[in-house]
Amino acid sequence: MAESESGTIVNSWNEWDPLKHVIVGVATDCHIPPPEPALDAKVPEDSDMRGQWGKRPQDTIDRGNELLDNFADLLRKRGIRVDRPTPVDFSKPVTTPDFHTDSQFGCMPPRDVLLTVGNEMLEATMSYRCRWFEYLCYRPLLQLYFEEDPNFRHEAAPKPRLTDSDYRADYLSEKIGVQQRLKWAEEKFFVTTEEEPLFDAADVLRFGRDLVVQHGFTTNLKGIEWLRRHFTDHRVHAVNFPGDPYPIHIDATFTPIRPGLILNNPQRRLPEAQRTMFEKNGWEIVDAAQPSHNSPPPLCYSSTWLSMNVLVLDPKTVCVEKSEVWQAEQLDKLGQEVIPVDLRDAYAFGGGLHCCTADVYREGTLEDYFPNQ
Ligand code: ALA
Repeated sequence: MAESESGTIVNSWNEWDPLKHVIVGVATDCHIPPPEPALDAKVPEDSDMRGQWGKRPQDTIDRGNELLDNFADLLRKRGIRVDRPTPVDFSKPVTTPDFHTDSQFGCMPPRDVLLTVGNEMLEATMSYRCRWFEYLCYRPLLQLYFEEDPNFRHEAAPKPRLTDSDYRADYLSEKIGVQQRLKWAEEKFFVTTEEEPLFDAADVLRFGRDLVVQHGFTTNLKGIEWLRRHFTDHRVHAVNFPGDPYPIHIDATFTPIRPGLILNNPQRRLPEAQRTMFEKNGWEIVDAAQPSHNSPPPLCYSSTWLSMNVLVLDPKTVCVEKSEVWQAEQLDKLGQEVIPVDLRDAYAFGGGLHCCTADVYREGTLEDYFPNQ
């Protein structure tokens, strides 16, 4: 690969090759967005977030930023280049010809928005109205990479219209109940319809030639089909995880650690029929350890399974949240060097160690890990 004068290279083919350059999000100005269909479907029915919206308390934002800054410093000390997004004013409402929402979200989880595949960074469609403009926070960086790396391809998926036709009215009820949600998840009856292609980047895992994409609340089948037609040199596989009543983003459910090894959330196991590709190629899918916590931190969208939301630095080294001692112990026993990182007080802003990062460069080439299809 030709290196530019600045040394900037955009290139990453999988979740585990040696990490050299990464974006780490910021908690600045993060808002709890007002109600909207797909977001409401995701907020757990017993969550303390129900009925609240507006800017998050400044002391929690400051604490979140302290932890994110510390994480960025830790990565830099290991020789990894770290860039940070530029937040826009998230208090501003968003109005398009098709929808209006009174505030935006934030830019703590770049993983949700940016999908790096080889020398391309693709801005996802997103499926929440409050996140429609979130890509703007990353544009200063993407413009810089465009200038610095002559091979970098900056792509954006078609912006969705996000009218009411994108969302199933069945999910608007506040009292659906977990049993009904699990039944719907099993039937793949998700909040998003097939009106137009929708995907969040955090529903995609990269395994070299193969992209594994979660069909759920934030990514529909048309979104997966769009990815298939876009990444024509890849094989794109749709997966779903029936045990998850709030299925968004694959990275607290299915976590590749190194070639041949994946952790799977024991409450959200990959269905037998979807395991063939892994089994035929000698990949092991093991149940992840239990989380250390019984509930998420205050005002947090995510589940306790952010324990699995680890950031792999290379095939032998993995960052795990400091309080997740069971997950750390399991990874240690599986032969990984574990780096504990304090991040729990930043979870509320959009997730864990994988969510709050997006790959720019991992050293390595495009490999076929699943030659037996
Ligand atoms: N959807 C993921 C979880 O909360 C992030 O488990």
